Amino acid sequence: MLRSVPGTNDFFGKSKEYAFREPVFRHIVESAQRVLSASGAQTIHTPIFEYAEVLQKGVGTTSDIVVKKEMYTFEDRGGRILGLRPEPTASIVRSYNEHGMKVWPQPVRLFTWGPIFRAERHQKGRYKQFHQVDYEALGSSDPLVDAETIALMVQIYRELGLKHLEVKLGTVGDPEDRLRYNAYLRELFRPHAQELSEDSRTRLESNPMRILDSKSAADQQIASGLGVRPMLEFLGEEARAFHQAVVRYLEALEVGFSIDPSIVRGLDYYVRTAWEVHHANIGAKSALGGGGRYDGLSEMLGGSRVPGVGFGIGIERVAIAMEEEGVEAPTSPSLDLYLAPLDEAAKVEALQLAQKLRPQLQVEIGYSVKKVGKALEDATKKGARYAGLLGQGERMNRVTLKNLASGKQTQVAWNDVARWLGEQAEQPFAD
Ligand code: HAM
Repeated sequence: MLRSVPGTNDFFGKSKEYAFREPVFRHIVESAQRVLSASGAQTIHTPIFEYAEVLQKGVGTTSDIVVKKEMYTFEDRGGRILGLRPEPTASIVRSYNEHGMKVWPQPVRLFTWGPIFRAERHQKGRYKQFHQVDYEALGSSDPLVDAETIALMVQIYRELGLKHLEVKLGTVGDPEDRLRYNAYLRELFRPHAQELSEDSRTRLESNPMRILDSKSAADQQIASGLGVRPMLEFLGEEARAFHQAVVRYLEALEVGFSIDPSIVRGLDYYVRTAWEVHHANIGAKSALGGGGRYDGLSEMLGGSRVPGVGFGIGIERVAIAMEEEGVEAPTSPSLDLYLAPLDEAAKVEALQLAQKLRPQLQVEIGYSVKKVGKALEDATKKGARYAGLLGQGERMNRVTLKNLASGKQTQVAWNDVARWLGEQAEQPFAD
C-alpha cells in the first residue's frame, strides 16, 4: 500500500489526531476570517509556487530556510527554477507590487490561509507541509499599525478559546542597529565558539543574533553566563521611539504582553518590531505564530519602498494548543435525515427527495435496497436525527419519518418534510 510522505498529514473529520481533524482546521480558519474581515482586511490567494528567487530573496541568505535548504525547489520543463512557498509574505509583497496596489488607499491589508512547505525534520508540531493563516498590512510605517496587527492576532487566539498565551514582543532594530549589535555579539561569543552548538557556530559569522534564540541548552547557558546586553541597548533614536510607541499602543489596547529581548525571528527581512505568541503548555514547538515589520522586503524584490507588518499563525500548532486546553472540538454538522429505499422503485425517489431537501437540510441516502431493520441501523450509524423510509407504504410522494432517538414515526408529504423537521428541531422536547 502506498503511503503519504512523512511530515505531511491528511485532514478529515474522523482523524484520530485532533490537530488533523478537518472541522477543527475549518473552525480555526473561519474564526480568523471573522476577526480579520471585521477589521476590513481583504482575502488574497497567491500561488503556492513562485520563482525561487522571490521566495529566497525574502527570507534571506542567513535564514534556516536558505542555509539548511528547507525550501523545496525544482526546475520546470521551461527551465524555470521554482520553489514551494516556505512562507507567504514574500508572495503577497510580490503581488502588491505586481498589481500596483500602491495607488490604493494605504495601508492595504490582506490575509490568506493555506499550505506552507519546509523541508524540516518532522516531529509533533513541526511538519514538512503545514498550514498558516497569514495577515499583512502594507504601505504604512505607523507604529499604530504594528499594535493593531498584534492585537488582531491575539484576538484570533482568544476567539478560539485559548487562554495560556504568552505574547512576547521584541525589536530587531534597524539594519544599522543590527550591524552594531551583531559586531558586539560576534566579539562576545567568538572566544566560546568551540563550546557552541554546530548551528550557533555557523551563525556566529552569518547572523549571531540567532544564537540568542537557540534551543540548545549549552548555547543558552553560555549566553546567560556572558550576560549578553539586549538589542534594546543598541537601538538608534528612531527605532527606540518606534518601539516605545508600539509598547504604549499595546498597553492602551490592553493586549497582555511581555518584552522579550531574545525574540530574533528566523527570517532575515524583519526590521524593528518582531513578536511571537507562545503557548505555555505544548512543549518545545510552542510558537503558535510570529510576525514583525519588514520595511525593506519590497525593495529586496525589486519594488519601491513599501513598509509592511504582518503575522503568520501555525494552524496545526493552534489545534494542538486547543486540544491541550480542552477546547471543545467542533464536529461536522450532524445529519438531519437519512433516506432509505425499501424497494427498487424507491431508489430514485430517495435521490429525488434528497435533492429537493438539500438546500435546507443535510440529507444522505442509502444507495441499495434494505429491509427496514437494516435501514434504521444504517441511519443510526450515520448519526442521522431522522430516518426517512421510502417503499410500498409510502408511494404518492410520501415518506415515513422516524425519530431515531425516540423511535416515534409519522408519514409526511414530500412538500412538508423540510417544514416538519424544522418544527421538530424548534421543540427540544418533541419526539
Ligand atoms: P514563522 O515564524 O516562520 O513566520 O512561521 C509562523 C508560524 O508557523 C510559527 O510560529 C509556527 O506556528 C508555524 N510553523 C512554522 N514552521 C512550522 C512547521 N514546520 N510545522 C508546523 N508549523 C510551523 C512566518 O512564516 C512569517 N511569514 C510570518 C510573518 C508574516 N511575518 C510577517 N508577516
